[in-house]
Amino acid sequence: MCGIVGYIGKKSAVDILLEGLTNLEYRGYDSSGIALNIDNKVQLYKAAGKLQNLKNIVEKNYSEISKSTIGIGHIRWATHGAPTIENAHPHSCNCGKVAVVHNGIIENYKELREKLEKNGCTFRSQTDTETVAHLVATKYGETHDLTEAVRLATKEIEGAYALCVIHQDVKNTIVATRRNAPLVVGLGDGENFVASDVPALIQYTKKAMYLDDNQIVTLTPDSIKLIDIDNNPLSQKVETLPWEPVALSKMGYKHFMLKEIHEQPDVVRNVLSGKLRAIDENITLNEVTLDKDKIKDLNRIQIVACGTSLHAAMVGKYIIEDFCGIAVDVEPSSEYIYRKTITDKNTLVIGVSQSGETADTITAVRQAKCKGSHILIITNRPDSTMAREADSLVPVNAGIEVSVAATKSYMAQLISFYLIAIYIAEVKNSMPANELADLKHELIVLPQKIEKVLAHKEDIQKCAKAFSSSKDFIFIARGINFPTALEGALKLKEISYINATGYTAGELKHGPIAMLDESMPVLSILMSGKVYDKILSNSEEAKARNARMIALTDSEDEKLNELFDYIIRIPEISEILSPALSIVPLQLIAYYIAEFLGKDVDQPRNLAKSVTVE
Ligand code: G6P
Repeated sequence: MCGIVGYIGKKSAVDILLEGLTNLEYRGYDSSGIALNIDNKVQLYKAAGKLQNLKNIVEKNYSEISKSTIGIGHIRWATHGAPTIENAHPHSCNCGKVAVVHNGIIENYKELREKLEKNGCTFRSQTDTETVAHLVATKYGETHDLTEAVRLATKEIEGAYALCVIHQDVKNTIVATRRNAPLVVGLGDGENFVASDVPALIQYTKKAMYLDDNQIVTLTPDSIKLIDIDNNPLSQKVETLPWEPVALSKMGYKHFMLKEIHEQPDVVRNVLSGKLRAIDENITLNEVTLDKDKIKDLNRIQIVACGTSLHAAMVGKYIIEDFCGIAVDVEPSSEYIYRKTITDKNTLVIGVSQSGETADTITAVRQAKCKGSHILIITNRPDSTMAREADSLVPVNAGIEVSVAATKSYMAQLISFYLIAIYIAEVKNSMPANELADLKHELIVLPQKIEKVLAHKEDIQKCAKAFSSSKDFIFIARGINFPTALEGALKLKEISYINATGYTAGELKHGPIAMLDESMPVLSILMSGKVYDKILSNSEEAKARNARMIALTDSEDEKLNELFDYIIRIPEISEILSPALSIVPLQLIAYYIAEFLGKDVDQPRNLAKSVTVE
C-alpha cells in the first residue's frame, strides 16, 4: 500500500520517477506526486486520482521539470485523510525546503503534530506523513545534517514506515529509511535508486540492496552510505535481482490479469520443476528445513493468510488433513493476531502471502515464532519481509504479478500446498504410494488441462456476457471446492463490484435461498467426486426457486442440460486436484464480466495489491 521511489544521478529524474510509479501502481492509485530539485528549489507536483493525472501535469511543464536529476515520488493508497491533492505526497515543511514520501502509518502522529504545531509548524494536510516533514525540518535546523535529521526523527516516530527525504540545501542527496515497510536500494553507475519494490528499479539496474528495519541509507549519485539508528556504520549485501523487465509487459494481452491467467500452465510447470521429478520418486522440498522426526511429531498445523491467499490456505487444509492426518486450522491473519492462540513447538505455522508484505500475516507469524512454532512461509517474493521471518521458505515462482486481482499466484500457492502435503505424507508414510503416484501423474498433466480450458475461453466469454448485467451472484460448492466458490466470488466482486458470495451448497437452504428468484444467477461448482450428487440436489433446490443456473463441471452427464441454463465443461480431473482446474474458468468469468462492464480490470477501485497496514 503506497509506493515510493527515489532517483539521484545524471539523467532526468522525472522520467525515471514516473516509470517507477507506473510499475508500483499496484500498491495504490488514489493520488500521486513527485518532488524535484529544480534550479536549487524543491518543487512539488501532485494530482488526485490516477497516475495519468500527474503525468498530464508533468507533460505541460516538461521542459522545466526535466532539468532535475534528483527526485522522489509517491503513489498513494489513502489511510489518513481523503485522496485529495492536499493529502497527496510528497509533504513539506513550513519553509518548503524538505520533501518527504512515506509508505506506512505513523501511529503517534497526533501527539507529534500537537507538539510541532506548538512550535510553530503549520500543517496543510490531514495526513500522518506531514508530521515527518516538519520533524525532519526541525531536526535539520538543529544539526544541519540531513542523515542525522532523519535519524533523530525516526527515534521519535512510532509505527510503520518507509521514507524518502530530500532537502533543498543538501543537493545531490536522498536519505531513506524503513521500519516494518519494504524498501530496496538499486545501485547504478553514477546513479542510484530507491523504491518500495523491485518493479520500480528493474528497468535500470539488477544490483540491489534490501534495507532492514531501522537502517538509514544516504544516496548520492556515486555513493551509498548505510548506518543503523544508533549511527553505527553498516555494510549491506548487494544482490543480483532475478527479475526480468519483460515481466512488466502485457505481452499483447489487453490486461495484465488476462496475461497472468494465461501464464498459469507455465506457473504450474515452474512450481513442480525440480520438486516433482517422477511419479515413483519422493518429492524434493529442500526448502523445508523442519526435521523429519519433528514432522512426525506435529500434532497441529495452523495456516494464516489474507484474501486470495486465505482461499489457497483453505484448500491446503483439505489436502493436508486428507493426506497427512494432521489437524489443520486456517484463520485470517487479522483475526489470529487479536486473540489468545494456542500455538506451541509442536505446531507448524504456515504463512501464505503473494507479496510477503501483508502486515497482518507478518504480525501473525511473528507471534507464532515467539511461541516456538516452526514458521513455513509460502510466498511469491523470496525477497520480502515475511520471507525473512521464515524457518522454512517455499518460494512459489509465479513471477511478478501486476494485476491487483491475484490469479497465477493463487495457482502457484495451490500447487505448493499439494507438494507440501505429499512431502509430509511421504515422511509420515500416511498415504498409499500408488495413490500418491496417481496424484503426481495428475499434477504433471495439469498444465495441459489448464491449456484446454484456456483454449475454449470463448464459451466462458459468452456465459460472462449473458450474466454481466446481474447485480448479485451466488457461487455454491462443497468440500474441497468450497474455497474455489469463495475465490470465484472474490474475483468477481474485486474487479466488477458485483455483490458475489460463495456458499457451501449445503448452507444454501439455511438462509441464502431466501434471496433466490429469476434475477439471481447461481453458479454450481459440480466436480465429479463424493459430493457431486449432493451439489446436484442443492442445485435442483435453487432451480425450483427460479434462479438462473450455471454449472461448472467435468461431467459429461446429459441430464445437466435440463437443469442448467449454461454449462461450462472442463477436462475430467480427480476431486482432490480439482480446485487447481476449476478456478481457471471462474477467473475468466470475473475477467470478462468486468471487461464487458468497462471496469478498470488491473486496478480496481479502493484496492491495493500489497496491504502493508493492519
Ligand atoms: C490484498 C490484495 C489481494 C490479496 C491480499 C493478500 O487484499 O488485493 O489480492 O489476496 O491482499 O495479499 P498477500 O500478498 O498476503 O497474498
